[in-house]
Amino acid sequence: MIDQGVTRRKDLSRYAEELIRGRRAVRSFRPDPVPEDTMRAVFALAGAAPSNSNTQPWTVEVVSGPARDRLSEALLAAHTQQRLSVDFPFREDLYTELHRRRREDFGETVYGALGIARDDSQAREAHNAESLHFYGAPHVALIFAPPVADERMAADIGMYRQTLLLAMTAYGIASCPQGLLGFYGDTIRRQLGIVDGKVLFGVSFGYANTAAPVNRARTARAKLCETTRFHR
Ligand SMILES: Cc1cc2nc3c(=O)[nH]c(=O)nc-3n(C[C@H](O)[C@H](O)[C@H](O)COP(=O)(O)O)c2cc1C
Repeated sequence: MIDQGVTRRKDLSRYAEELIRGRRAVRSFRPDPVPEDTMRAVFALAGAAPSNSNTQPWTVEVVSGPARDRLSEALLAAHTQQRLSVDFPFREDLYTELHRRRREDFGETVYGALGIARDDSQAREAHNAESLHFYGAPHVALIFAPPVADERMAADIGMYRQTLLLAMTAYGIASCPQGLLGFYGDTIRRQLGIVDGKVLFGVSFGYANTAAPVNRARTARAKLCETTRFHR
């Protein structure tokens, strides 16, 4: 446990506010790579994430340079040919009316920042394709769960992912978690020479292109009273 003296507690809560609220999904990156020692520090820190009985059921593949370019090209080919392979099936009916509304708000925010109209399916498709270039990020981390993974293990993987995103933010590294990458499990495994393991998403990362309008998009959050009840 960390020292919880009053001054330190105030400092930590201030840093936590800054760190957690300062993280956001970035969708345009500069090409310059993150130094190797910074990457190692960030991924080592992410390994401090909690997991069920400390099982730490994740394995992480960090892909950069020519391997990153090959993976991106393979993903784009799979996308064009509609060769989908989904390890954790997606169901549209998962979302209630409320969740659908929030998703629409999100779409309006991001596509609005990109200047893409709601009915411009061609431009939306081009943006999807761009996301398989990892939005220009020089690195992508693919996070794998064991082949037997179920919802419980997926929750551990989510814990790891958020810890990773915050660690990146703390080190000045921008990121975008990308569920779309989880629709191309076979392509990713083939490219990275992985025999088994399920992939739920990837995290593109690097340094933000601060001039890109899409990076100025700000997503809203539900009010505390809409999501949380306090019982006594
Ligand atoms: C599980 C998950 C999957 C996501 N998939 C994508 C994706 O495929 N493409 C994308 O651009 N953003 C993706 N995101 C980013 C979310 O859209 C983003 O986190 C959300 O809109 C909140 O915005 P913020 O991260 O900027 O606070 C994903 C986020 C999560 C947690």
